[in-house]
Amino acid sequence: MTNSHVTRRELLEITAAIGGTLAGGQLLPGAVPAAAAQPAAGAAAPLEVALRVNGVEHRLQLDPRTTLLDALREHLHLTGSKKGCGLGQCGACTVLMDGKRVKSCLSLAALVEGREITTIEGLAEGGELHPLQTAFIEHDAFQCGYCTSGQIMAGIACINEGHAGSPQEIRDWMSGNLCRCGAYDNIVAAIRDAALTLGSTANKRGG
Ligand code: FES
Ligand code: FES
Repeated sequence: MTNSHVTRRELLEITAAIGGTLAGGQLLPGAVPAAAAQPAAGAAAPLEVALRVNGVEHRLQLDPRTTLLDALREHLHLTGSKKGCGLGQCGACTVLMDGKRVKSCLSLAALVEGREITTIEGLAEGGELHPLQTAFIEHDAFQCGYCTSGQIMAGIACINEGHAGSPQEIRDWMSGNLCRCGAYDNIVAAIRDAALTLGSTANKRGG
């Protein structure tokens, strides 16, 4: 089944089943209480869902109410993406979808078929960390680490969007990712550093 094969009726049934509100395949912030995201007794018939994650396609049998975050963590055992609030408010679950940042606790797995999902586990290439992962280590940009994968995924998007031009701009565009350890200064420094590294790499490649 591809995303385009989710009919309007199926979409409405899924939405009704979770009591949420959908916009563009993503649940609106605050639309679904955390408890509602959990499968309940007498769950709906499972759907076969093909998820493309870190370049690999996985075919899963999922309750239609399964969020992308739960599919990643509970079914694919990719536990780098964290469940903080389950309500779209903390950013710990941030992943990239077709290169754009999304909060995976607000996306239904059944509605993201055919999209390219990238998680923290898929960033390293050929055994080399992504420049932002390296910058997080160099700048000590974490303490407990619970928010870190979400911060890195959002930080990559922030850089790619061209929103890492100054510390204040980074703070503004990273405001959806909370760090209860308060490592913000170091996170901002790491993103700024990686933005400069990636910029200079691009310039070298371009030149
Ligand atoms: S767990 Fe998704 S935003 Fe908090
Ligand atoms: S490093 Fe602990 S929540 Fe951010």
